[in-house]
Amino acid sequence: MTDRFLRACRREPTDRTPVWFMRQAGRALPEYRALRARHTLLDLCRTPELAAQITLLPVERLGVDAAILFADITLPLAGMGVAVDLVEGVGPVIAEPLRTAADVARLRPLVPDRDVPFVLEATRLARRACSVPLIGFAGAPFTLASYLVDGRGTRDLVQTKRLLHSDPATWHRLMAHLTEATLAYLEAQVAAGAQAVQVFDSWVGALAPRDYAAAVLPHMQRLFAGLAGLGVPVIHFGTGTAGLLALMAQAGGDVIGVDWRIRLGEAWARIGPRAIQGNLDPAVLLAPFPVVAAAARDVLNEAAGRPGHIFNLGHGVLPQTPPDHLARLVDLVHETTATAAAAG
Ligand code: CP3
Repeated sequence: MTDRFLRACRREPTDRTPVWFMRQAGRALPEYRALRARHTLLDLCRTPELAAQITLLPVERLGVDAAILFADITLPLAGMGVAVDLVEGVGPVIAEPLRTAADVARLRPLVPDRDVPFVLEATRLARRACSVPLIGFAGAPFTLASYLVDGRGTRDLVQTKRLLHSDPATWHRLMAHLTEATLAYLEAQVAAGAQAVQVFDSWVGALAPRDYAAAVLPHMQRLFAGLAGLGVPVIHFGTGTAGLLALMAQAGGDVIGVDWRIRLGEAWARIGPRAIQGNLDPAVLLAPFPVVAAAARDVLNEAAGRPGHIFNLGHGVLPQTPPDHLARLVDLVHETTATAAAAG
């Protein structure tokens, strides 16, 4: 088994730069689409044999250096008492968003063995069959809160921001609840076999730095302090975070994930001495392969062979992506960095 992904998380030298893709198991793969034609997304997530099978698809087809568990960040919400619908083409929709102190007080603690046993069983099955390290994941408290309060993904997160500015006490109770739930969820995934975990704070880039510092940072510090005890590398990812990277690094994580809106070298300077994951624009993969290759080499040049770079996209694989481009990109990253190591 190649452990170059885990070595890079610890900033140890690797034989090649490790590469995997956020959402590598999803709609870009025809094998996934065939399964989705017969099952809903929730059915796939709640059937451990199928979730484990989907988790392994990109390892075989693309040659990536890590697998990410097939699940969704909204799966734990049902256990906390919130009904979530995963709507095709939209994403998670919550019919009764949380807006008041009473709404937040009704949330139940997450008990992973009771509430998400299917995720833990999928983790065990995938780990047993997987030839590369298996990454577990969860939504970060802020990103989960943005769905709970706004009710669905929105560009401006108006209701979420209204709550955090107008009723900070309720906001902090919500964030504290989600922090404990996320910690319990990731602990259970690691106990079931996850060898690294990624915290997706996908929508945190909507915040001003001062609001991140007041409304999010203390909870993220508590989360990462708890995760540090699990003994596996922790990846801290967000998009649109160029102005937040120093604060995110302060919050924690062994690896900081960055999107394409900042040069990788510049992002690395802002986060200081830790590993970095990213950061090719996923939309580039829709262009002819020579364009993809040039953009990927640019990312690798920014990393400049320093240990602790995990090649990834800056956000998830787009559904229209040709799978062959993903496979060729994996080869390109491996070949380019093997040559560099031999030459250097
Ligand atoms: O490789 C994979 O696809 C991994 C599995 C995975 C899913 N969701 C399954 C899924 C992962 C890692 C997630 C994480 C997730 N879910 C995040 C964080 C990552 C990110 O992209 O920022 C977020 C914000 C969600 C919430 C969510 N679920 C959204 C926004 C959507 C719609 C996405 C879209 O592009 O339409 C979903 C639905 C979803 N979750 C799909 C998949 C494969 C697509 C729908 C389907 O197959 O019906």
